[in-house]
Amino acid sequence: MNGTRQHIFDIVDKWCYDKKSKSNLLWISGSPGAGKSAIASSLVSRIGHGNCARFFFKRDSAYYRNPSNVWKTIAYRLAIINKDIGVYLDKYLETNPSYLDNNQRSKDFDNLIVKAFNSISQETQSQAPIVIIDALDECEISEEQKDFLTSLANWGKLSNFKIIVTSRRQQDIQDTIGDCSYHLHIPTGQAVDATSTQDIHIFLNNSFQQLKVDLGNFPHAINQLAQYSAGLFIWAKLAISYIAAGTVTKRLETVLMNMGQLGQFKDNNLNLDRLYAQILYSIFEDCTQEEKTQYEMVLGSLIFAKAPLSINMLEVIFDDKESKITLEAISIALGKFSPLLLSLDLDDGDAPLYLCHLSLQDFFQE
Ligand SMILES: Nc1ncnc2c1ncn2[C@@H]1O[C@H](COP(=O)(O)OP(=O)(O)OP(=O)(O)O)[C@@H](O)[C@H]1O
Ligand SMILES: [Mg+2]
Repeated sequence: MNGTRQHIFDIVDKWCYDKKSKSNLLWISGSPGAGKSAIASSLVSRIGHGNCARFFFKRDSAYYRNPSNVWKTIAYRLAIINKDIGVYLDKYLETNPSYLDNNQRSKDFDNLIVKAFNSISQETQSQAPIVIIDALDECEISEEQKDFLTSLANWGKLSNFKIIVTSRRQQDIQDTIGDCSYHLHIPTGQAVDATSTQDIHIFLNNSFQQLKVDLGNFPHAINQLAQYSAGLFIWAKLAISYIAAGTVTKRLETVLMNMGQLGQFKDNNLNLDRLYAQILYSIFEDCTQEEKTQYEMVLGSLIFAKAPLSINMLEVIFDDKESKITLEAISIALGKFSPLLLSLDLDDGDAPLYLCHLSLQDFFQE
């Protein structure tokens, strides 16, 4: 959201133009739901699609979790936005016609990226594209993943060119790029800093303004919610989605009461789990046994499916004699679960129903 994360953008801007920066690999790390992908997307917009090449890992996409696809995807994008790189890669493919038949991608970094960047003329090097890779931790664990992380550690070979990567603070990532990167960590939980809390405050303030709700009876609500989020944007987002999907002041009151009653912890996961628990409790609290069974089956399918389901898929899954759940019942259940979904369009039967965040699966598994 506009107006948030300015301090991070200022640091990135400074690093981008700093010729003497310690490292030309910038690593932004943070807890699940802290807002790393949102930052990566904003950086793409700020730098401009014509000036950067991106690869956003996605655990639920076969293509976007495969490390073998990173450098070739980025090279393709670089060839479009930079003439010198386009000419180099064109020639490379011409002289290596078997490239596409070959599944061995371990040489991609040197052949498609290092040599391509080094083909940029001296005069235009200062406007060279920037590479942005989001969610290194969503990359499939494999030998190729190790090669890929090592290639990031080798980015130093490209001293004049910049790359920004984001990830959770996972040990293998820390071990490979921790020492050779310029590291920016987004503090959350006990360590949360005033700037992150302020960013979430801005987001909450704006969200309540959009809901046009009078917070006269809750003068400290935004401050309290910002504290409970402990730096996690996903917490704030979920709280707003839940509050907005019912009688706003009543739901706000229960969130504040439940979070307050349990004592103020700054444990990210605990606070998020409490909110998930409260949302589920409110959905199941007043329903009949039949509704409860139906809701459980629909939610269970969404949580444990290997890839996102759609309304049409749910209809097929439950179209058997034993579990017969009508389309209408599926729609009602989905409506109830809407705060737990990234988005919901009941008129689009084919739209994938993404969960609001992967931590919802962890919540159920635990
Ligand atoms: N600055 C922001 N303004 C508004 N919403 C935000 C902001 N940052 C994050 N969000 C929202 O918070 C949620 C979590 O953010 P995001 O997906 O970026 O987290 P993440 O750190 O990438 O998590 P993960 O480690 O699971 O990938 C998303 O729904 C996102 O839209
Ligand atoms: Mg992310």
